[in-house]
Amino acid sequence: MNLYADRTFRIDTENAFKIGTHVAGVEQKFGDVVKLTLGEPDFPVPIHIKDEIKRQLDLDNTHYCDPKGVLSLRQAIAHQVSATRGLDVNPERVVVFPGGKPPIGFVQQVYCNPGNEVIYPSPGFPIYESFISYVDGVPVPLHLDESSNFTFSSDQLSQLISPSTKLIYLNSPSNPTGGVVSPEQLEAIAATILDQCPAEVRVYSDEIYENIMFDNNKHHSIASLPGMESRTIIASGFSKTYSWTGGRIGYAVFPTESEADVFKNLNINYFSCVTPYNQEAARLALESPLSVPAVSKMVSTFQERRDVIWERLNRMDGITCQKPLGAFYLFPNISGICENLGLIDYYQGMSAADKELTSPAGLFQMFALYCHRVAVMDRKSFGRLGSEGQHYIRLSIASDLAVLEDGIARLNDAAQDNEGINHFLDTRPDLQ
Ligand SMILES: Cc1ncc(COP(=O)(O)O)c(C=O)c1O
Repeated sequence: MNLYADRTFRIDTENAFKIGTHVAGVEQKFGDVVKLTLGEPDFPVPIHIKDEIKRQLDLDNTHYCDPKGVLSLRQAIAHQVSATRGLDVNPERVVVFPGGKPPIGFVQQVYCNPGNEVIYPSPGFPIYESFISYVDGVPVPLHLDESSNFTFSSDQLSQLISPSTKLIYLNSPSNPTGGVVSPEQLEAIAATILDQCPAEVRVYSDEIYENIMFDNNKHHSIASLPGMESRTIIASGFSKTYSWTGGRIGYAVFPTESEADVFKNLNINYFSCVTPYNQEAARLALESPLSVPAVSKMVSTFQERRDVIWERLNRMDGITCQKPLGAFYLFPNISGICENLGLIDYYQGMSAADKELTSPAGLFQMFALYCHRVAVMDRKSFGRLGSEGQHYIRLSIASDLAVLEDGIARLNDAAQDNEGINHFLDTRPDLQ
């Protein structure tokens, strides 16, 4: 008899959390690491939100509450989503979750039978791909290309849709690329979905970075387009917009109340309800006039950093980098660095089992961490299937500019350290 169920190791992970052990080990042995891995804004939660959390605690709002989410928050979410997407959302279609992450896996459990195909962006948030094999679904990566600044055309999507397609993930602005799908692209994508998919196919529109848009561009949701509201799950949350990743408040707006109730029942089964005092503070975040200036200050700081770091990266030998239009990540192509350091050839010589565990960009990631004390994420951390031959890293700009500049200088040193790389590959300290 086996200890673990067959499905146990079919679930993957989010390396941004796993890399922490390596970073801690390097810091303990060699000193400070510049962390360009962080998927959370580096700002405190705005004061008015913190004050409301405290006030709610003093009101003893600390008990079980509605598993669907407290009505006051669902009303505020319905109002905000309606106003920003041009829709008329009833609060009964809204379900609150502990963060933006849980509904990603829940929708696969609810909508997919074994053998159903799930289309998802790659590179993309790793949890989309991670769950698919766990629920016996069939992963269908939608590869995003640098040449279109990591967006995709309706033709690309059209070729992936089949009679077995059940779920399509979209994510704009995107983690890890910062890519933003244009309104024209969205219209063509919606037309393709309406044309090729039956009404039971769901689009999961992950809009968690909706408020972190640069260059005065506005966020657009596919749910706003004619015919799409009844097929789209709009997912968002409070982690990124309000720099509140520890608050664990996210939500999804479902096409119908009855679908929302299915997810309410999953909430009951998994965690009963979401922390009520945080939910009330989330309601305040949506309603308070103090939120808009706090968020726009954060976004303009991200934009300033993006401009500086994007320019620096493009000045480095062996790197090309597209300009992200939203979120707080840059996703440079490091093919030239991998080639210069001999990592592509080295990788070719590895055994199939060793190759599974890394990539040329993954080797560079570990070299940069262990020998130059700068932490980044590799391409393979954002969807494994079909990622071969793609040499990218993700840098988060959720740190002060001085820290980011130090990180870029360290990456530049790593990129030119032909001697160091040989020692690294001989010793592979990351495997010890
Ligand atoms: C695209 C995307 N969706 C969802 C999440 C999950 O957010 P949360 O921390 O609210 O669970 C993240 C977090 O990094 C993300 O990047």
